Amino acid sequence: MNAAILGYGTVGKSVFRLLERVEGISVRYVLELPDRLNESYMVSDPEVIFTDKDVDIVIDALPGTHPSYEYIKRALECGKHVVSSNKAAICFGFEELNKLAGEKGVSLLYEASCGGTIPIIEEILRIGKLDAIDKVYGILNGTCNYILWQMDKNSMDYGEALSLAQKAGYAEADPRADVSGFDVRNKIIILSSLAFDSFLEQDIPTVGIERIDKDLLCRFRSEGKVIKLLGMAVCSGSSYALAVAPAAIPETALEAGVPENFNMISFNGEYSGEIKLYGQGAGGDPTADAVVRDVEKILYKDPAEYGRTFEKKPGYDPALLRGTCHVGDQIYPDSVLSDMALKAEKEGKSFVFEFNA
Ligand SMILES: NC(=O)c1ccc[n+]([C@@H]2O[C@H](COP(=O)([O-])OP(=O)(O)OC[C@H]3O[C@@H](n4cnc5c(N)ncnc54)[C@H](OP(=O)(O)O)[C@@H]3O)[C@@H](O)[C@H]2O)c1
Repeated sequence: MNAAILGYGTVGKSVFRLLERVEGISVRYVLELPDRLNESYMVSDPEVIFTDKDVDIVIDALPGTHPSYEYIKRALECGKHVVSSNKAAICFGFEELNKLAGEKGVSLLYEASCGGTIPIIEEILRIGKLDAIDKVYGILNGTCNYILWQMDKNSMDYGEALSLAQKAGYAEADPRADVSGFDVRNKIIILSSLAFDSFLEQDIPTVGIERIDKDLLCRFRSEGKVIKLLGMAVCSGSSYALAVAPAAIPETALEAGVPENFNMISFNGEYSGEIKLYGQGAGGDPTADAVVRDVEKILYKDPAEYGRTFEKKPGYDPALLRGTCHVGDQIYPDSVLSDMALKAEKEGKSFVFEFNA
């Protein structure tokens, strides 16, 4: 089989190297920007890739929603299998792209888009075939975890921890997509849509970590709690709720000990009970590992995922996520997360949700 890689940055370069170890696949093209076409296999016109009938798999390692979404769509329309690490593009076109892959009889795989190397999508799909999953939650952004971890461990200010994360290469020069919670939002929508077998609401409460300061972390520590940025999704009967927010969790919870830029994702099945997966949620090599595992699924037809149709139509009910909410210094017991997150936003105050798994 022949592959083409779109984007030759951190992930694209690692994928290129790791694919050299896979028998039966060769990289025919790399899509690069026009001023960086250094190798014979590099092209800047994506149509060269989409119209080459010998390209079987298109690997998307581009940043942001556009033009990645349009390229994925075009590749599927041209009958190519697609593997993507780009959660923004996959989340944006989730239902449409899955449907298109199904119509064209080609695979659309995106394990690397959620939790880097952690095989979370594979496990959710495997367990979810028989079992009813009613909860998905976890630490899904390594940059935010690194910042909160540094602030908590070394009693650092937010700005200090952010610049340390940037120096360590964990945070981008423009860290907004990470620290605003938007990156986690994309991931929790993808994961819970698969877990609950439904295409879910995209307009969900999303609170980042910009308003968390070291005094707040200290206050929760003195009560035996740690603040982590969590993506949370629950399903009950025919209703569900999703949110992203800083969450206070007991020091004894496994998530409380997740260090540096690691991720931990949990889901709960009716029969399986709780399953937790832990690992490198980012980095070129760990992400490439997940991309190449998806490529191997297509190569070995094991079992290639030909898009997805979402059978269930549960109703969005944000009131399902309720508990004790902290808006600035005020505590609101048994309150709806989305209402309190909105209140915090309007008042320009910090927001923390007490999360009990
Ligand atoms: N890095 C990680 O740890 C990680 C983990 C999981 C998922 N992901 C996802 O994987 C994707 C790639 O991430 P990355 O870290 O590899 O990003 P990156 O280092 O910024 O690489 C992306 C590359 O694509 C280039 N590019 C941008 N627009 C292009 C276009 N239209 N045509 C051709 N090339 C273009 C960029 O060039 P310029 O930089 O010059 O613009 C850059 O070289 C993203 O969607 C990211 O969210 C990354």
